[in-house]
Amino acid sequence: MKYKILNKKNIEEYLMSIKNIKEYFAGDDLFIDEIGNGNLNYVFIIQSLKDKNKALILKQAVPYLRCLGEDFLLGRERMTYEIRALKQFRNNTSLHIPFLYDCNENMSTVIMQYLDSHMVLREGLIKKNIYPNFSEHITSYLADNLFKTSSLYLSSMQKRNLLDQFNGNAELCKLSEDFVFTFAFMEHESNDILSKNNNDFKALIEDTFFKKEVLALKYKFMTQNDALLHGDFHTGSIMLNEKETFVIDPEFSFIGPFGFDIGALFANLCTSYVSHVVQKTSPSYLEYLLQNLSDLLEKFEEKFLNLWIKQEESALLTKGFIRNDELLSYKKEFVLGIIRDSIGFAGCKMARRMFGASGVEEIRNIKDELLKKEVMHICLNIAKRFVKENKNLSSIQDVFAIIKEEIKAS
Ligand SMILES: Nc1ncnc2c1ncn2[C@@H]1O[C@H](COP(=O)(O)OP(=O)(O)O)[C@@H](O)[C@H]1O
Ligand SMILES: [Mg+2]
Repeated sequence: MKYKILNKKNIEEYLMSIKNIKEYFAGDDLFIDEIGNGNLNYVFIIQSLKDKNKALILKQAVPYLRCLGEDFLLGRERMTYEIRALKQFRNNTSLHIPFLYDCNENMSTVIMQYLDSHMVLREGLIKKNIYPNFSEHITSYLADNLFKTSSLYLSSMQKRNLLDQFNGNAELCKLSEDFVFTFAFMEHESNDILSKNNNDFKALIEDTFFKKEVLALKYKFMTQNDALLHGDFHTGSIMLNEKETFVIDPEFSFIGPFGFDIGALFANLCTSYVSHVVQKTSPSYLEYLLQNLSDLLEKFEEKFLNLWIKQEESALLTKGFIRNDELLSYKKEFVLGIIRDSIGFAGCKMARRMFGASGVEEIRNIKDELLKKEVMHICLNIAKRFVKENKNLSSIQDVFAIIKEEIKAS
């Protein structure tokens, strides 16, 4: 099928050309609306007028950046990688990826399960919602996917095939290289107006120790082919309710360093925590957020290690190569290395949201300018220490010491 941009008028014809979708709606009249609040793509809901429970989501990539307009070109092939990643992740963790009804690389579309009672996590945290199963679910998602797409699990051939499938997502990787690791840490036209005449920003862009560590992390991002990553794993890429947790929107997926997704999520949860601390949210909610932060690292570490302990052969390891007790200590040190990298990446991710393009709602929506400044100041101090000190962390407790010290210091 030749690519065409879908809209409310022509979408029904497209849907009815797909056999299982036609059968799903069984001739019902349809309600069709565009619901995406997204930056890059179009997201439609298609719902039966007769039976509201019959509803699907269609997401389509267009060959430009939706939020900026048709002059800002961005290859629609990003959907090819979103589709491939969704399929991989669903294979590994079917409970946490929406059911996929139809994926079409030519049309740059995916038709998937409508998450009808689920909220985007970023919004849920602003509303002070509690999700009792979130940390358990998300650490299973991370451990399973990172492990099963790495050389610690796959054979050498399988891993190289996987690399081939994702190597082409170059345009979106370049966006991350620019926006996560570069522009936000120098004078750049894309930076937010908040950066103008701001002392914290001035200090940041003159901090050469910080910048050298950012370069080291950027280099890891560009060259370390550990596992298949989501690539944009912030709290806006997770939809959940009290019972279920789903990951959406892996258009930035690529084969990269183990710590990058964990770090992205840690950064967003940490920013949310600081924002609630400064806004004097109830102690019980603060405790809940802190628990999520520690669960993310601790449960991930435990689950990832358990998967690896059960795996006797892989591209990396051959049975009988090394004594078992030595192997275990190697694996533990390796996983601590993942945690260290995650914290380094978390630092970049947190810092770039302060003055760079696309700030986060939990900060930018704070109306009181003084409070907003304080949240940004604390986040930036935490972020800088994450970037500068991650290599020296000897346990997860050290990470929390940094967070607590910087909150206390303000
Ligand atoms: N399967 C789904 N069910 C319900 N809502 C969805 C689903 N997928 C996306 N959305 C909604 O559409 C928004 C944009 O989707 P997203 O995949 O993040 O698009 P973009 O890549 O353009 O940012 C999400 O924030 C969410 O509100
Ligand atoms: Mg997206």
